[in-house]
Amino acid sequence: MVLALCFALTGCGHKSSGIYTEEEMNEMHDITQEVVHWSVAYDNVISHSIPSTTTACLSSDPNFAMELKTANIDPDKPMIALTFDDGPKYSSTSSILKTLKKYNARATFFVVGGNVNGDDEDLIRQMVSQGCEIGNHTYSHVDLTTLDADGIKEEISKTDDVIEKITGFPTKLCRPTGGAVNDTVLSSVDKPLILWYVDTRDWESRDASSIVAKIENYVTDGAIILMHDIYDSTAEAVAQIVPELAEDGYQMVTVSELAYLRGVTLENGKQYYDFTKNDSSSASDDTDSTETETQSST
Ligand code: NI
Repeated sequence: MVLALCFALTGCGHKSSGIYTEEEMNEMHDITQEVVHWSVAYDNVISHSIPSTTTACLSSDPNFAMELKTANIDPDKPMIALTFDDGPKYSSTSSILKTLKKYNARATFFVVGGNVNGDDEDLIRQMVSQGCEIGNHTYSHVDLTTLDADGIKEEISKTDDVIEKITGFPTKLCRPTGGAVNDTVLSSVDKPLILWYVDTRDWESRDASSIVAKIENYVTDGAIILMHDIYDSTAEAVAQIVPELAEDGYQMVTVSELAYLRGVTLENGKQYYDFTKNDSSSASDDTDSTETETQSST
C-alpha cells in the first residue's frame, strides 16, 4: 500500500532519496490533487491482492477503484475509448502519451509483450501514472487461431508476466491479433476480448490526415477506436484529433472505464466492439462478425 501510494506521489517513481527540487515538489503537489492518480494506486493494490486489512476493506467493493478513476467523468456526456495496438515503440508511443497528458485524455494500450525492452519499461510506467490502461496483445503477435489452447494461454500469460513485473499487476483485457478469434480462443483466453468500432487503418495509410478523417467520419458516443502506436503518422494524427475530440465534448477514457460507465460488466471469453447506447451492438458470442476485422493488421 505504502509503495503503491509512493509510486503515485512520485509519478514515475524515479526518486527515493527524500530530497526534491521545487519543481518536483510542485509536480508531486499537482499529482496529489488528482483523484485519478490515487485511484491507480488503489487499483494496483486491489489487483495485486496484498493481504492486509486495508486491502480487504477496499476489495469488499470491487467498483470502488473504478468509481474513483471515473470521478471526473460526466456519465451523461459523450465518451470514447482510444486504443493503441502493437507497441510500445519509444518515439511514437511517448509522443502519444504526451498528447494524451496535455488534454487530460486516457487511452488503452494493447501491448505486445515481446516488444517491451529497456526504456519501454518507463513508457509502461508512464501509461499507468497517466491513468491509461494496459491490455494484452499477445507476446509474439501471433494469430491466436493458429494455436491450440496451451499455445494461446502461453501467449497471453507471457505478456502478463512482462507487464506484472513492471506495474505489479497483470492485464485485464485482451485484443487478439488481427481481431481473429475462434472457439478455442474464446474458451482459452481468460479475459474479455476487446475489438473495435472505428478502424482507422492507420497501418495501411501511414497518413495522419487520413487517420484523422476516419475518426472524424465515424466517431460516436461509446465507440472504441483502433490505432497502432508504432507509427509516427499515428502519433501525428493523435496530436491533431485529440484536441479536436476534446473540443467536441468527447471524454477520452479507457476501455474498462467506458464499460463501467455504461453499466456493462465485462466477461471473459466475450467479444466487445463498442459501448454505444445502441442495443444492437456491444457483446457478442459468435465469431461471424469479426470477419471484416480479420483483414486488419492489428
Ligand atoms: Ni496487432
